[in-house]
Amino acid sequence: METTENGVLLETPHPPRKEKLSRRKAITRGFFALTSLAVSVGVDAFVIEPNRLTVDAPDIHIPSLPQAFDGYRIALIADIHYPRHMHPEYVQSAVALASSYHPDVMVFAGDICDHKGSATVPNLSGLFDKAFAKDGVWGTLGNHDHWLDAPGIRKELNKHTPIRMIENEAITVARGGHGLAIGGVGDLWCGVVDVPKAFAKVPPDMARILISHNPDLAEDLRDAVRVDLQLSGHMHGGQIYIPGYGGLLHPSKYGKKFCQGLVQGKAHRVYVTRGLHSTGRIRLNCPPAVSIITLRCTP
Ligand SMILES: [Fe+2]
Repeated sequence: METTENGVLLETPHPPRKEKLSRRKAITRGFFALTSLAVSVGVDAFVIEPNRLTVDAPDIHIPSLPQAFDGYRIALIADIHYPRHMHPEYVQSAVALASSYHPDVMVFAGDICDHKGSATVPNLSGLFDKAFAKDGVWGTLGNHDHWLDAPGIRKELNKHTPIRMIENEAITVARGGHGLAIGGVGDLWCGVVDVPKAFAKVPPDMARILISHNPDLAEDLRDAVRVDLQLSGHMHGGQIYIPGYGGLLHPSKYGKKFCQGLVQGKAHRVYVTRGLHSTGRIRLNCPPAVSIITLRCTP
């Protein structure tokens, strides 16, 4: 009740009962909508996406690439972190998926094993049996390989897999009388990185691909040595990718710059694959990937 200046009592107007009910309904509906959104995002991030293997297939222009190499296909796999939250069947299916694209060469860019998944080097037999490429299957190590046992992993890879290490050295492959160099270096945090040594025997004008687990090398390299394209992993794509912002998890001096995809570093360009493993078993808008890169001699 309210009183007027003349002392007359007036009834305070109440909102109609219908309006009150509809407001309550709207709040309840909003609550359920938000809860179901949170549940679906959680199910996607923790259950679906970490297991949803995808394929990235960029075409990348290399200015010094001879015409004979136009269409040259590189299968890039990184960050397996075996056996930490990683089933052998998942690794086998990723390897088989990469081979199904009939790559010219297959490369594994480090963090093949993980010190948190095993106290000793795990048995890798059978995991990479379906890895096949005309110009071979090559690999470098990452920080997690070093934190477990780098010499032990090199030995195990050599004994039980087709992956051959390419650390501070390069191979050259030929097509139609022309050459392409594929080099590798040790891990930036834990290994030995010597890019001039890797390409020491490569003719100066030959196109050069460099495998380095850590993409930061594309920014940090100070040696006067040309690299046309670096291939890296390590970042897992940032794992939680916010549209308009980028990846949230980035073990890099340069923040989210090298989270994923083709990035121009101060020294040269790098293509960063999102890799297979999901730290903390979470991924959002950033599924694991096998990358199938096609080199192009024209833009
Ligand atoms: Fe790493």
